[in-house]
Amino acid sequence: MAAQWLKDAVFYEIYPQSFYDTNGDGIGDINGITEKLDYIRDLGCNALWINPCFDSPFKDAGYDVRDYKLVAPRYGTNEDLYRLFREAHSRGMHVLLDLVAGHSSEEHPWFLQSQRAERNEYSDRYIWTDSTFQGGDGLPFIGGESERAASYVLNFFKCQPALNYGFLHPSKPWQHAANSPAAMATREALKDIMRFWLSRGCDGFRVDMAPSLVKHDDEKKTGTSAVWRDVRRMLDHEFPEAAMVAEWSDPPLSLRAGFDMDFALNHRGGCYSTLLRDYVNSDGEEDRSYFKKDAGGSINRFLDEYLRWYEDTKDIGYISLLTCNHDTPRPRRTLDETELKLAYAFLFTMPGVPFLYYGDEIGMRYQLLPTKEGGYQRTGTRTPMQWNRGPNLGFSSAAPEKLYLPVDPAPDAPTVESQEADGSSLLHTVRELLALRHRMDGLKAGAPFSVACSEPGKPFVYRRGGLLLAVNPDGAASSAEVPCYGRQLVYAIGSCTPEEGRLTLGPQSFAVLS
Ligand code: NOJ
Repeated sequence: MAAQWLKDAVFYEIYPQSFYDTNGDGIGDINGITEKLDYIRDLGCNALWINPCFDSPFKDAGYDVRDYKLVAPRYGTNEDLYRLFREAHSRGMHVLLDLVAGHSSEEHPWFLQSQRAERNEYSDRYIWTDSTFQGGDGLPFIGGESERAASYVLNFFKCQPALNYGFLHPSKPWQHAANSPAAMATREALKDIMRFWLSRGCDGFRVDMAPSLVKHDDEKKTGTSAVWRDVRRMLDHEFPEAAMVAEWSDPPLSLRAGFDMDFALNHRGGCYSTLLRDYVNSDGEEDRSYFKKDAGGSINRFLDEYLRWYEDTKDIGYISLLTCNHDTPRPRRTLDETELKLAYAFLFTMPGVPFLYYGDEIGMRYQLLPTKEGGYQRTGTRTPMQWNRGPNLGFSSAAPEKLYLPVDPAPDAPTVESQEADGSSLLHTVRELLALRHRMDGLKAGAPFSVACSEPGKPFVYRRGGLLLAVNPDGAASSAEVPCYGRQLVYAIGSCTPEEGRLTLGPQSFAVLS
């Protein structure tokens, strides 16, 4: 595995437009991130993932990139970002940028050239059919918008035409092979973008829709994996300490394709969602997730998939568990502070490299808001960071109506300042947990993991290295028959009684024993 620094990494995901505004325009900026580096470090996070901060028409909040090598003016300048890299490094921190590999904005100069009637260098940079009236062979497409008499394939929203990495088995004259000169040129353009940022101090990338590159790929993603392995070879050779995390949610495939980490983030249900957001309906009214007190959920719904992934990949890379991200409802939508403490205790003591989404450390709430920049129901997770009780909760000095999104209007909206003053706050628990993780070898990314008890109705008990850990999200005390002789309690939330052949956890409790 390439990047050694990942062994003790804890990431903080920053949505740049909503983190901290230093120039009073109502939108967060790069200098705002730099100013808050000490806060992030003191929280226990030593690495950042910054959502796309590049020039964009912002029809999908920056996931529609117009210039991959230019910081969006609303966030500052390239120089600001280089300074952020330097300031982070001087604190022993690393910075990942967001690489939108599968598509660009429809306003990218490549696309503007590509859609022209006369052939040019970029004609095949995107996937074009050979007629305006020709569909995308099962792929979403747009016809009737280009000078060129052809339709083009989309990767996500209408504003995001798919870049051409070819097809696994081309079956139409307009489909290029994955090793065709056109597809190889796209691949080289991607490497060029990566080299640009890596050589200026960036430490790697979170890759957007990583499995989406080669079209009509097979189940094993043979075509797309070959592209990423090629990228990995370049990195190993030129930037061996660069780290790559995939938005893929299939670690057996992604880690073999050369990624260091993959998010356990099953958008359509699956193991991760059973922990924190197992909503009965999409409105989130009823939640049966494991960490919801008295929901009676079983950890096995998570373990069934997770253990298969873990056993298969533990020697080749990391699974990343996350509190939330910019696409999912915040966990505070349904979980209260105590439930969140237990959930985070679990997430931050599991193997792999954890990710904390800005604001989840104070339990920021999910807001019901009209869509902004293609956010739709994701918008409510993207509101400004709540720093203190000053104007706009300390996010910005702009007039409230100028803010990127409104701040939480609730009189008891949590802030960093209020939680710092309260020794029993979620913020303090997050700090304690992350400090513990950094202190104990058994909690590092690659330290072994095994299950000691996962029986329904009992605490979930697991081993990390020489440590024994247990969590009981239920409102009633419960015990498991697990040998604890000679073990010492190192950390607890709630109560824990170790006896010779049994471990008892009080209601809503968590414990680490050495
Ligand atoms: C996944 C990103 O996380 C999401 O925010 C974006 O809308 C899509 N990919 C398209 O790039």
